[in-house]
Amino acid sequence: MIPTISLTSEEQELEHLVVVISKLSKLPAAIFNTAEKKYLKEQVETHKKEVISFNRLDYMVFVFFIREEKDRAKRLESCRKAGDKMAGCLNERKAARVAVFDPEGLCDEVVAVAEGMALGCYRFLKYKNDKDKDSTLKDIQVYSKALETIRDRETSTGFTRTTQYASHKNHIPELNILLDAVVRCRDLVNEPNSHQTAVSFSGEVEQMAADSGAVAEVMNRQKLEALKMGGLLGVNRGSAEPPTFTVIEWNPAGAKNEKPVVFVGKGVTYDTGGMNLKPGDSMMNMKCDMAGAAAVAAAVYAIAKAKLPVHVIGLMPATDNRPGMEALVSGDIITMHNGMTVEVLNTDAEGRLILADALSYAKKFDPALVIDLATLTGAAVRAIGKYGAAAMQAGAAGELTSLISSGFEVGERLVEFPMWEDYGELVKSEVADLKNLGPAEAGMITAAKFLEKFTEYPYIHLDIAGPAFLDKPDSYRGQGGTGFGVRLLFDFVSQF
Ligand code: BES
Ligand code: ZN
Ligand code: ZN
Repeated sequence: MIPTISLTSEEQELEHLVVVISKLSKLPAAIFNTAEKKYLKEQVETHKKEVISFNRLDYMVFVFFIREEKDRAKRLESCRKAGDKMAGCLNERKAARVAVFDPEGLCDEVVAVAEGMALGCYRFLKYKNDKDKDSTLKDIQVYSKALETIRDRETSTGFTRTTQYASHKNHIPELNILLDAVVRCRDLVNEPNSHQTAVSFSGEVEQMAADSGAVAEVMNRQKLEALKMGGLLGVNRGSAEPPTFTVIEWNPAGAKNEKPVVFVGKGVTYDTGGMNLKPGDSMMNMKCDMAGAAAVAAAVYAIAKAKLPVHVIGLMPATDNRPGMEALVSGDIITMHNGMTVEVLNTDAEGRLILADALSYAKKFDPALVIDLATLTGAAVRAIGKYGAAAMQAGAAGELTSLISSGFEVGERLVEFPMWEDYGELVKSEVADLKNLGPAEAGMITAAKFLEKFTEYPYIHLDIAGPAFLDKPDSYRGQGGTGFGVRLLFDFVSQF
């Protein structure tokens, strides 16, 4: 459980306190005694510290000086990170509640601090008997006159999110919904293969739909055979578990977009590599190979729960990739959902096979835009590491520009790679229409060019292999599944 954030003006009994300010001169004088003020001044001026903490009799006080930083995205990200740091201290103290005070009306910054605190409290402890490791922080109470004024204005004008809402980062009930979605995404990604199959994953998505007001449908093997989804069925051939294809839809009355935006997520519940078996080290974290599907499910869940006025559809093809008796072998040729043939040269390039079927299936929705999220290539990780995702587009330059700015806003950064036609030549096969393997260079681009052949609409591809899963903890992103993509997609559609 991560803490709940609330906006409050009621005086509570003394509790742990965080004060968020921009500079020393803004320090609310009444809160600190002379000795404390002197200490704060010294820490800021001499030691250049951002987060300063000290103990009072039975509680802690933190003063967080927001970094002087013109770039809004960098400033908000440093607020989230400071939030995580303070949450760490509070959990060590076994604190249950903290008040975050905003004397200056720095709404976005204070909300970002609370967000980083909450996300930093995430732990995956489902399989640990020792629950003592859990974070103790349960309530983050934000004291902010400025945020209250915004809330009261909304209430008095009869505001509801579905009618009109100029994308507002400070809407705390909505933030709680979003953070809960990130938690659900992380939980799905962290669930090991021993406890998660395509069928159980689909069941979880159905539950998320039921909890949020979205509509879900799960297609089973028989249905996939009828639809001739040769990519998904092909990858599934080595598996002991059947594949699934889950569709989740949120289509509210009065949606702002005429044609739906479709999200597609790679749902490889475990990637052994198949017959092209991965070596041990590379297989270690391959339970994360459904992080794209988990992000799609969680994003639609949050969008539906927050009742955002946008029509969105999520498509999640799911299977594990294993070397079974019937498994695909190198050189096999399969026929995809759209009738194209693919020479499978490496069974470890399975993601593009299941995604291709889903992208081809997406046409039936006549989408305004399709965005896929996939832990697709090691090449993307080698290119930019864990600090962002590789983005590519076809016919969606403007949309990608907006998505990139959402990425900066929420701290889920994207960097664009080219989609030049030359790369497309590299996935043409001698014996079939396409092959699923390109040369060693620019692997994330040839993968995207392969996928593009199955699209006939504005298309964005996000290779999230780097940031989706962390083997070492990194601030509020934590360790294991990060939930990358959920806050990104949510912010993107709230700009509509
Ligand atoms: N799931 C992997 C990609 C991956 C790598 C995800 C690291 C997360 C972290 C994908 O299915 C894969 O194995 N890709 C191959 C493709 C190659 C055979 C063309 C790769 O990148 O090595
Ligand atoms: Zn693979
Ligand atoms: Zn994979």
